[in-house]
Amino acid sequence: MTRIRRGYGGQALSEYLQARRAEIDAALAHVLPQPPECPDVLSDAMRYSVTAGGKRLRPVLCLASAEAVGGDRAMAMPAACAIELIHTYSLIHDDLPAMDDDTMRRGQPTLHVVAGEGMAILAGDGLLTEAFALLAREPRTADPDVVARKLRVIGAVAAAAGAAGMVGGQAIDLASVTPDPSGRRTPPLDADGIRAMHARKTGALIRASASSGAIMGGGHERAIAAIDAAAAELGLAFQIVDDILDVEGAPADLGKTIGKDAAAGKPTYPALYGIDASRRMAGECLARAEAALAAERLADSRLLEIGRWIIERSN
Ligand code: IPE
Ligand code: IPE
Ligand code: MG
Ligand code: MG
Ligand code: MG
Repeated sequence: MTRIRRGYGGQALSEYLQARRAEIDAALAHVLPQPPECPDVLSDAMRYSVTAGGKRLRPVLCLASAEAVGGDRAMAMPAACAIELIHTYSLIHDDLPAMDDDTMRRGQPTLHVVAGEGMAILAGDGLLTEAFALLAREPRTADPDVVARKLRVIGAVAAAAGAAGMVGGQAIDLASVTPDPSGRRTPPLDADGIRAMHARKTGALIRASASSGAIMGGGHERAIAAIDAAAAELGLAFQIVDDILDVEGAPADLGKTIGKDAAAGKPTYPALYGIDASRRMAGECLARAEAALAAERLADSRLLEIGRWIIERSN
């Protein structure tokens, strides 16, 4: 008989993820811009990519962080949705011919394949902007404490998504395989360089997901800092595993094409260290995340289980 692993609160992680994803998907359906305010063609394009699937890791992490600090996860739902909108925009743009030139995403043809490059760019722009409108609007409250939390989250998400975070990381990634306008190529990334690139392009938004949840959940400063530190480790682990899955994952599980990183000469953990060492390093990230959480008695939360899932996942 298969033993179902029972975690925090007696509920298996798979059940927890299923329940949270259902809440997130319902909330996302409400926040997506609709006609007549938004033109049909743009609304359809945004909806196509957001509802195509996806693990919903970032919004789950946001809600789980609110719960870990004893908060009400409903308070964190706007941030959870906003970050998923930003993440989806980042995927749409990442897949463009001018970037990774991918034709499959979340098990479906990429948005630029079905709607054209121009509309894919605009759908990404729309999702990014809508995310900040949502962060400013919700939760609807005049409570000064909650308003202050919202402002803090807006700042954190903007920093994570922008030039110092995801967009900056994507720029390093792109520059690593493309000469700049004057024809110069960047030197190959060393260990520090690749870690910093991963921390920006993927780690920053994962980190902001968790810390936003802890902030909106009303966590105290030490708890927010511990969750932030743990999520930085989980974010790096997440991209290391993404790199590994690009080498040895199953396209049917991943819903995207594999082998593109090596073909493009991308700087990745497997390219620099090999698969076995990369797996070990992802495990070390998880251990450091556990230590950060344990220091604030937060290891007995969903966050660590989510961390294990991040490194064991096949999609
Ligand atoms: C893919 O992210 C892009 C990276 C940052 C590695 P996910 O693997 O979380 O993509 P979805 O949301 O599940 O489609
Ligand atoms: C993308 O990294 C990170 C983003 C900010 C979107 P990858 O280019 O490795 O992500 P996948 O493998 O296409 O999902
Ligand atoms: Mg990329
Ligand atoms: Mg890509
Ligand atoms: Mg990848």
